[in-house]
Amino acid sequence: MTLELRKARAEDFPALQQMLEFYQYDLSDIWLQDADTEARYGYSLERYRLDERFHAHVALVGSQYAGLALVSPAVVTLKEGSWMEQFFVLKRYRRTGIGRALALHSLKSHPGPWEVGQMPSNVAAQVFWRKVISEQTCGEYVEVQVTEGWWQGHLQQFHVQTAA
Ligand SMILES: CC(C)(COP(=O)(O)OP(=O)(O)OC[C@H]1O[C@@H](n2cnc3c(N)ncnc32)[C@H](O)[C@@H]1OP(=O)(O)O)[C@@H](O)C(=O)NCCC(=O)NCCS
Repeated sequence: MTLELRKARAEDFPALQQMLEFYQYDLSDIWLQDADTEARYGYSLERYRLDERFHAHVALVGSQYAGLALVSPAVVTLKEGSWMEQFFVLKRYRRTGIGRALALHSLKSHPGPWEVGQMPSNVAAQVFWRKVISEQTCGEYVEVQVTEGWWQGHLQQFHVQTAA
């Protein structure tokens, strides 16, 4: 099966919405959120549809959706650049390299300053992101602990070069 990595198209948004439901449920033991009265988390993708500063990317294996990346303007420690707002690989496809491939695709799609963060208890995501960012930057990144403000956790700051 071929792996396709691409910026989301209009027809990908129903699948993005569904994958975000799985994502929010998957992380619900460490990211406390309430579903609505119809048991939906209902992550708002409006800005990803309408605002050109927000970018959604998808991974597909053949015709099957396998993961998503949501890239927004940097908002935690940087004043410009990109922030990986959400990132998810469906369980069926984990530990096959799809997360790495989608992460590298997403980083390279948005050259410039970056910040990527993980919640303190999401140890698997920390191992994953340190590995991917190290590979992308040849180890040239800074990790800080954010302990105040609306977002707190482990955060890596780095720069993605424009492709030659
Ligand atoms: C974290 C996540 C994106 C990894 O996706 P993935 O497709 O399984 O990642 P890859 O197969 O590309 O893994 C690349 C490397 O990351 C590390 N890694 C990935 N998952 C790991 C885990 N559960 N535990 C430890 N290391 C892990 C490994 O070093 C792995 O290389 P290896 O398989 O050769 O050992 C996926 O587990 C996920 O979606 N988790 C739930 C959502 C989430 O936590 N998102 C990140 C929010 S910051």
